[in-house]
Amino acid sequence: MRAIAIVNQKGGCGKTTTVVNLAGCLAADGARVLVVDMDPQTHATLALGIDPDALEENLFDVLVDPGAPEPLDRVTLDVADRIALAPSGIVLSALEQKLVAEQAEDRTERLAAVLAGVEDAYDYALIDCPPNVGLLTFNALRAAREVIVPLETSFFAIQGVQKLLETIGLLSDRIAHDLSVRILPTLYDARTRYARETLSEIRELFKELCFDTVIRQNVKLREAARRGAPLVSFARTANGALDYAALAVEIAAEGVDDALDAGDAVEAGGPRQVVVQFRAGDARDVRIAGDFNGWVPDKGVRSKREDAGGERVWTKTLELRPGTYQYRYVVDGDWREDPSNPNQAPGREGERNSVLVVR
Ligand SMILES: Nc1ncnc2c1ncn2[C@@H]1O[C@H](COP(=O)(O)OP(=O)(O)O)[C@@H](O)[C@H]1O
Ligand SMILES: [Mg+2]
Repeated sequence: MRAIAIVNQKGGCGKTTTVVNLAGCLAADGARVLVVDMDPQTHATLALGIDPDALEENLFDVLVDPGAPEPLDRVTLDVADRIALAPSGIVLSALEQKLVAEQAEDRTERLAAVLAGVEDAYDYALIDCPPNVGLLTFNALRAAREVIVPLETSFFAIQGVQKLLETIGLLSDRIAHDLSVRILPTLYDARTRYARETLSEIRELFKELCFDTVIRQNVKLREAARRGAPLVSFARTANGALDYAALAVEIAAEGVDDALDAGDAVEAGGPRQVVVQFRAGDARDVRIAGDFNGWVPDKGVRSKREDAGGERVWTKTLELRPGTYQYRYVVDGDWREDPSNPNQAPGREGERNSVLVVR
């Protein structure tokens, strides 16, 4: 299980939206996801369609008594296909005071302890944090190996992030493990020069720590929160759903990278790394889908975008065993054959698929 904490002490930068919609997209790709709502404001719980006031127990009951048998399973709710929720309650805001009063020495380890008990039950645990760096956020950081910091693409959002990164750095010095921290630009409005400038500033400042994916402003994401479901579950092609799908692919690809490094030798008949490229002047999203990934765009594919002399080049790395494969590109939502590949075959619905032979 990969435990990822979504952290920023600033409110309104898209933490909860990221947790809920990333969960939706990871689950749509087949992963089992646990959403852990560590914010007493209960926004993630509400955005997944659960009324926290109607629950008898929530994360508070788990964290005050982590030694109980299967403490997390007691409160976890199945909220959608492959998405489980450990719900929050307003009472969670009393946790810090209670554990300090009890002088509980393990008070920052409570979430880590209960998540260890469900390590094999999920592929991802996404932990939503409150907008402050108190005990609840500390618990999230001790439980996670990865941190995503959503950053609103406005000037004021950058201030304060340096401080947050220092806090996280200090914390990872104090705890036994490293935290990998990534920055996610959110609430991006490409129509304003201001936002474009801020985005390039963020990219310059954080370099490879910054995700390639940018989350655009999209009112449908607000609607999804009100409706109590991830956007991808009812509007798969809305910009907000596409952006979080791209983020899910980027995050899943990091896991694949590790797996690739682990077993380096290529055996005969074993999978080969196959690299294909697509050049497109102004496309902003290019994915590849074929019979090798069940025609799910970019699933299991490592994707890289480069800007070379005014031209955008997408490089897709596939893991394929020897054989013949059909595929198409999805360019800003439109399905197209590969313009650089003369080998084509008729697809099932009369379209022309590109053909790739791996020896
Ligand atoms: N990309 C987006 N486009 C439009 N609205 C968004 C977007 N991301 C977040 N919002 C809205 O902005 C508000 C704050 O987002 P939220 O995810 O709750 O932030 P946080 O959890 O950091 O406080 C919410 O009303 C949410 O629906
Ligand atoms: Mg929130």
